[in-house]
Amino acid sequence: MRMMGIESSCDETAVALIENDRVVASRVATQEIHSRWGGVVPEIASRLHQKTLSRMAQETLDDAGWSFEDLNGISVTRGPGLIGALLVGVSYAKGVAAALNIPFVGVNHLEGHLWASVADGEEMPLPALAMIVSGGHTELYRLEDFGNYSFLGATLDDAAGEAFDKVGGLLGIPYPAGAKLSKLATEGNSKRFHFAVAHTKSPLDFSFSGLKSAVLREVQKAEDSEDPVFRADIAAAFEASVIKQLSQRVDEALRGGDYKSLLVGGGVAANRALREKLEQVSKKRHAKFLVPPISLCTDNAAMIAYVGMRSLRERGEDSLSLEADPNLTLVEEN
Ligand code: KG4
Ligand code: ZN
Repeated sequence: MRMMGIESSCDETAVALIENDRVVASRVATQEIHSRWGGVVPEIASRLHQKTLSRMAQETLDDAGWSFEDLNGISVTRGPGLIGALLVGVSYAKGVAAALNIPFVGVNHLEGHLWASVADGEEMPLPALAMIVSGGHTELYRLEDFGNYSFLGATLDDAAGEAFDKVGGLLGIPYPAGAKLSKLATEGNSKRFHFAVAHTKSPLDFSFSGLKSAVLREVQKAEDSEDPVFRADIAAAFEASVIKQLSQRVDEALRGGDYKSLLVGGGVAANRALREKLEQVSKKRHAKFLVPPISLCTDNAAMIAYVGMRSLRERGEDSLSLEADPNLTLVEEN
């Protein structure tokens, strides 16, 4: 079975090809232009997807030595995300499916992040505790099996990646700031500032807006906020606080459950210090630690092709009348 996956929900245009649970080719083009505005400009994102997608699909097929006629199905992110951006990918995928008369599958972007760590053949013992930490989401789920998820907790305000981007903005780091802020943090002293971990009524919820305000207060107080040592120390203390909060919640959930795996996905899962800490926690709680390679943490189409293929096998194809849904959630109670 050969499937093409397409991702265009935000500012990455991505195409991947998968053959029986093996990623054969994967391309991602990040729209760098948004850093000028400090965040994604929806109209520009849609236009750039439109410009890039069909060329990229052909290039990805060339990488694999395949042609369109080799495909047995096409899958695409149908939500959540920016509606204009989603529509570009969904319309394209429907067009290909109709032209080739092959199955069309709409994929939930969050389900893609959930399964990214096994997209290339890794085993996942179940049940698993899953944490999605991205620019738009910070959520915990219990994962019983493919398609069987229950909601455990989520951020009450900002997502973890959003906090990295906003604090990065305060330190003059262009959007998206996560990776650069984390690099700066390696040069800093995380003990110089103490940023407390937020308390939430449910122990499995998250909150990052107080942390962001605490950083803002230190930046406003600083005599020289351009000082490289100050910036690195703030970055280190901020990152330490985010990692502490994420790992505390994960530890709490693992402690009270029968989980065989811990899986983490989304852009912030690319953070090395977070990966190390979560690996320690999963070892302590005897759960297999599953995290995607760095390239599959941020938005990509390999994870969409993987979920597309499993959906096609286990749930069947979708109708071409299926619509993009900018507010799609993973589970109803959410
Ligand atoms: O999953 P993703 O590509 O897009 C969404 O679906 O949101 O995640 C992007 C987010 C951005 O907020 C970015 O700053 C953050 O992931 N990010 C990181 C790192 N790499 C990307 N945050 C912390 N450390 C990193 N190394
Ligand atoms: Zn994402």
